[in-house]
Amino acid sequence: MCGIVGVVGSTSTTDILLTGLKRLEYRGYDSAGIYVNDQVGHDYLVKTVGKIAKLEAALTPEVQGTVGIAHTRWATHGQPSVANAHPQFSTSKRFYLVHNGVLNNYHELIDQYLSDVKLASQTDTEVIVQLVAHFVEDEGLTTLAAFQKTLQLLDGSYAILLVDQAHPEQILVGKNKSPLLIGVGDGFNLVSSDALATFDQTENYLELRDQEMAIVQKDNVKIYDAQGVQQSRTITQIKIDHSSVSKGSYPTFMLKEIDEQPAVMRRIAQEYFDEERQVTVDQDLLTALSAADRLYFVAAGTSYHASLVGKRLFEKYTEIPVEVGVASEFGYHWPLLSKRPFFVFLSQSGETADSRQVLVEAKRRHLPVLVITNSANSTLAREADYTLLLHAGPEIAVASTKAYTAQIAVEAVLAKALGEKLAIQTAVDFDLLGQLGLAANGMETLVAEKDTWSELAHDYLQTANDAFYIGRGVDYDVSLEAALKLKEISYMHTEGFAAGELKHGTIALIEPGVPVIAFITEQATAAHTRGNVQEVVARGAKVLVIANQDCQDAADQIILPTLTTELMPLLTGVCGQLLAYYATLQRGLNVDQPRNLAKSVTVE
Ligand code: F6R
Repeated sequence: MCGIVGVVGSTSTTDILLTGLKRLEYRGYDSAGIYVNDQVGHDYLVKTVGKIAKLEAALTPEVQGTVGIAHTRWATHGQPSVANAHPQFSTSKRFYLVHNGVLNNYHELIDQYLSDVKLASQTDTEVIVQLVAHFVEDEGLTTLAAFQKTLQLLDGSYAILLVDQAHPEQILVGKNKSPLLIGVGDGFNLVSSDALATFDQTENYLELRDQEMAIVQKDNVKIYDAQGVQQSRTITQIKIDHSSVSKGSYPTFMLKEIDEQPAVMRRIAQEYFDEERQVTVDQDLLTALSAADRLYFVAAGTSYHASLVGKRLFEKYTEIPVEVGVASEFGYHWPLLSKRPFFVFLSQSGETADSRQVLVEAKRRHLPVLVITNSANSTLAREADYTLLLHAGPEIAVASTKAYTAQIAVEAVLAKALGEKLAIQTAVDFDLLGQLGLAANGMETLVAEKDTWSELAHDYLQTANDAFYIGRGVDYDVSLEAALKLKEISYMHTEGFAAGELKHGTIALIEPGVPVIAFITEQATAAHTRGNVQEVVARGAKVLVIANQDCQDAADQIILPTLTTELMPLLTGVCGQLLAYYATLQRGLNVDQPRNLAKSVTVE
């Protein structure tokens, strides 16, 4: 949520900032802004409402400099407007600041220090820059001392970059909870929310930890802890494949990422199986997990839906009970824990603030923590005891697709490995490698039938205002995910329901023409779900059935190959993605960047 970039010491500052913002646009796209200073007396501030393309169009050729900061915003305090866009600046126009995060105590700070200041925006961020100005201009502190004092007053999450017009040779940086990396260039340095923003400038990064601050100059970076003690930090290399962050010949990132899923399945098989077709997972992790009497899966959104499938996989193949929690709820309502709990966090980005706050508390309680993530260098990956990677490649479209199926596949890998270690026969007999191959082939067939999916979306969803996905067991889990996919990008009101639960209230919403999409892939419950289908047909619903070969009926519209029950979401999930994709395209909406959303949700 919100992306920030800073550059010091490069004559291409404006270009680097703009390119960085474009790559960070997934973090928010309500408004954007840039401040550059040429260090010989000229500076420029440009802010626009809307996407980065608007900012780019507003930049005139003279907007050049050798130090600069930039921001793309996902609004938290104050609507998207030029006044609320960052960089925010002090009344004196000496200090310029960008911020990612949320302050909890900005009202108190205004009352205590800024009651005489006429604030120009409704943002919590302006308070930070006005505070620095206040301590420098009214109390006579140096900029560094004022910045340090300000950081100590802030309660909340922040990644902050500050430029003082009177000292344009440096950027002051502060971090707490929000992600931030310092990129070490050749004769210049960089700061950004994500290495994705600057990967073409450097592969060398310094990680800033919570409550640290840094002084970033063109050939020098100094890092200090909250007590002002200088810290040493070794360089971390982060390599990002250029082709993985471009759309190539695809019209959208989402379609590219949907199409990549067969390759992701094969990569996971390659990464986690050896030449003897044996599953290979870090033995220390398996030893720690086998000591657990209960697993607690914590995640948000799509990752939460993948965790629901994970519960089924782990309970079947390891016989260890699993509890699944929505991160934003779990953090404030911890359940009674078992005697030997083990925490598993699923997070594509590895940056989700709701998940992180649970992780921090789990660590505080000295509980073992595993993170399953797509981002090796993310905050959650750094803070966990163990990390398993998804190997899905960067996911850029806001709606998660390949990370969802990768999460399920990696959960299956771990469940099999742990089950084998615990000598559970079902795990030993589980031919996961064969299943991943079948899943990859099935996905390939699905993504090759784009015309079919486009026609189905047109026939069932184009004119509808509401839609329902139904299923039982793992088909219910995937109904939740398919409904989220459709609603978040098409803005249709969509619900995922346990098929049998419909008649306990929600069936009242079914009227002639309402689309109901039923997943039927489990023999044990197929007849019951078909009964529920008849109930909605009787009330005029337009029903699309997606079944597998084991459960098929002549009238079903889509028949999928049969996989092990718990792995069917690898295929039904893709069906939900394709329907959502084409329904959205047919409504003329932006598939990759739906309104009000951001890819990395770094505020609680
Ligand atoms: C929906 C989607 C979100 C994320 C959620 C968690 O398509 O992408 O629901 O799944 O914000 O994000 P991560 O997995 O990065 O923790």
